[in-house]
This record gives sequence, C-alpha cells and structure tokens, in this order.
Amino acid sequence: MSIPNHVAIIMDGNGRWAKQRRLPRYFGHREGVNSLKRIVRYCGDIGIKILTVYAFSTENWNRPAGEVQYLMKLMELTFGVELEELVQNGVKVRVIGDITSVSPKQQQIWRSAEERTKHNDRLFLNVAFNYGGRMEITQAIRGIASDVLEGKFTIDQITEEVVNRYLYTKDLADPDLIIRTGGELRMSNFLLWQSAYSEWYFTETLWPDFDIEEFKKALESFKQRERRFGRVYE
Ligand code: IPE
Ligand code: IPE
Ligand code: MG
Repeated sequence: MSIPNHVAIIMDGNGRWAKQRRLPRYFGHREGVNSLKRIVRYCGDIGIKILTVYAFSTENWNRPAGEVQYLMKLMELTFGVELEELVQNGVKVRVIGDITSVSPKQQQIWRSAEERTKHNDRLFLNVAFNYGGRMEITQAIRGIASDVLEGKFTIDQITEEVVNRYLYTKDLADPDLIIRTGGELRMSNFLLWQSAYSEWYFTETLWPDFDIEEFKKALESFKQRERRFGRVYE
C-alpha cells in the first residue's frame, strides 16, 4: 500500500510541550501552528490529497476562558492574516464544525478563507473547528428527519450514503490514516462515523515536536498495514 489519500490528525500535546519548558500553555499552541504549517506543506509535496486536522473540539469550550480566547485569536491569525501562504501552496480550506456559534468576526474569517481558496485543488485541508463527532451525527439526524417530513425521501431510503451526505465531510472520502500525537489512546469525539475503517497511529510525540521525520514514521507504519475490511486474504 502506498501513501494514504486522506490523513486526519488529532493535534494533541501543546500544553504539555509548554509545561516541559516551564512556559504558559499558549506557547505550546503557538508552536503547534508551526507544526501544522510544516505538515500541510509536506502533505502537498508528497501528494496526499486530503488532510483533516482537529483544531478545537466542542468540549474545548470547557477550558479556562483565557486559553479559549487565545486559541480563537491564533485561529484568526493563521487562517486570516497568514492565509496567503495557504493560497500560494494550492491549499483548499474547509471548516468542519459548527461555526454558527462563534463570533461574527471568526465566522467571517472562515468564510473568506474558504472563498479565497476555493479554486485550489492541490491539497484539501479540513479544519475541524468547534467540531464534535456526536454533534455532527446529531445534526445529520435532524437534517434527515426534517427532509423525511418534507417528503424528500422515505425512511426506507435512508442508506449509509444518505447519512454521509448530511455530514460536514459529505463529499470527502473517509480518512485512511488517523494520527494522534501526545500519547493519549482515545478518539475524543473525532470523526466517529468516518473512522469506521481508518487505520490508527498513536505516538507519544507532542504535537509541537511532530516533524517530518515523525510523520514519515506514521506513513511507514500505514504502509505495513493490511486493510482487510472484514475480508480474508490468503
Ligand atoms: C491540543 O493540545 C490543542 C487543543 C486541544 C486545542 P492540548 O492543549 O490539549 O495539550 P495537552 O493535551 O494539554 O498537552
Ligand atoms: C482533542 O484533544 C481535541 C483537539 C486536539 C483539538 P483534547 O486535549 O481536547 O482531548 P482530551 O480532553 O484529552 O480527550
Ligand atoms: Mg490535550
């Protein structure tokens, strides 16, 4: 098996990276953006088509207000002021998550990032922002129920393909490889539906330390996997 078509990453460990250096947590988040830029560039270079990154979960609102505010500002900077780099690199940005509940300024930034990169097709970068897998599935159920009520289709016509169309990731292939940095062995509400047959790669490496060498290790591990999808191979 060669390189994955769709890689998803749970970028975890920023706070611990900062703590190791006796710095406030936000230093870790700032350094994490550099990691992201590095990986985005590399994915484009080696021909990975889709990269989905977990930037802010629906549960992350429960962090101290100062940290939440900092993360919002950082996102504004990365996908607002510094968008040009992504535009130049042929990256097509899409936000997956509920942006209706963030500030109008933040919404504007996401919309213009999507608008300004919409003709790019080198790398599709999905940013999971205010994203939660259960929330995504719940809003899909609402959408389907309401369309059934409106008579657009019947209950019997609800197939897995139909469910797919109501998710944020509607027209995207499922992730082939999901990487979680920072050493935790859990999903934390990320891509619950889409990860049904993804290969997982966990590493102790903290996100700000995740460099190209580390990424290559994950890709190498993926290469060795035999994806059976329930079948048997002699
Ligand atoms: C991931 O790093 C970044 C976000 C969740 C936004 P953390 O901030 O969770 O870092 P740790 O897990 O506390 O080290
Ligand atoms: C998952 O990391 C969310 C993101 C990386 C954005 P968390 O640090 O929030 O996950 P938990 O709380 O350890 O499960
Ligand atoms: Mg964490």
